[in-house]
Amino acid sequence: MERPAYLPNHVAIIMDGNGRWAKQRKLPRLSGHKAGIDNMRPVIKCLNSHQVKYVTLYAFSTENWGRPRAEVTGLFRILEERIDQEAFELHKEGVKILHFGRLEEVPSSLRQAIVRVVRLTENNTGMTLGFAFNYGGRREILDAVRRIIAEGISPQSLDEETFNRYLYTSGIPDVDLLIRTGGEFRISNFMMWQSAYSEFYFTDVLWPDFNEKEVERALLSYSQRQRRFGGLQ
Ligand code: IPE
Ligand code: IPE
Ligand code: MG
Repeated sequence: MERPAYLPNHVAIIMDGNGRWAKQRKLPRLSGHKAGIDNMRPVIKCLNSHQVKYVTLYAFSTENWGRPRAEVTGLFRILEERIDQEAFELHKEGVKILHFGRLEEVPSSLRQAIVRVVRLTENNTGMTLGFAFNYGGRREILDAVRRIIAEGISPQSLDEETFNRYLYTSGIPDVDLLIRTGGEFRISNFMMWQSAYSEFYFTDVLWPDFNEKEVERALLSYSQRQRRFGGLQ
């Protein structure tokens, strides 16, 4: 495939379609989540090989708690079973893992595992991987506002740069390319502030099927966009 001419610095992905992938194969939904987790590392590796510096993956939203309890606990269990091994492999590649979201509501063993992999990779200098887990864009903004008020920041001194520092993604550049797999045309409460000027790429491909070729298709599409940021060229 043609090599994309210019590449995004930050790619964020709404990894949707695990359930439908399983249904197509007459498998239980949790098999879809398993396949979804297995697909994360190859996609990260591929983006890394294209020198993308920041990748954020949406793995569980604040609204996903509304699913049947068995699906939520099953998903958490699968993730807990895999997280250390997956993180160890990424650690070898120099990937630095960050968590975006609220850990407070996450069961303690999984919460500790997330903290552990963040710690394991904290001094790495390669790609930064944001793991959006129990993440909600509105909640992120509310949490930022609460801290800003609690710290007594004056209305006059509050600008976009300051506000950015109170988001979960503090220090991370805005999203350049936002990909959603699974055929829906919505952002489902993801990166609402950070995607203000993102380029969107929607595909029907279900997340477990979103392979290297599909990643390259998305990058190529991005490289053909003309970003204006409200200006004229
Ligand atoms: C995305 O896949 C993963 C999570 C939201 C946890 P889904 O589970 O939403 O898959 P579909 O949309 O039902 O196919
Ligand atoms: C968005 O997918 C959340 C994640 C991929 C983690 P959903 O499947 O939860 O989104 P909706 O419900 O279709 O909007
Ligand atoms: Mg879905």
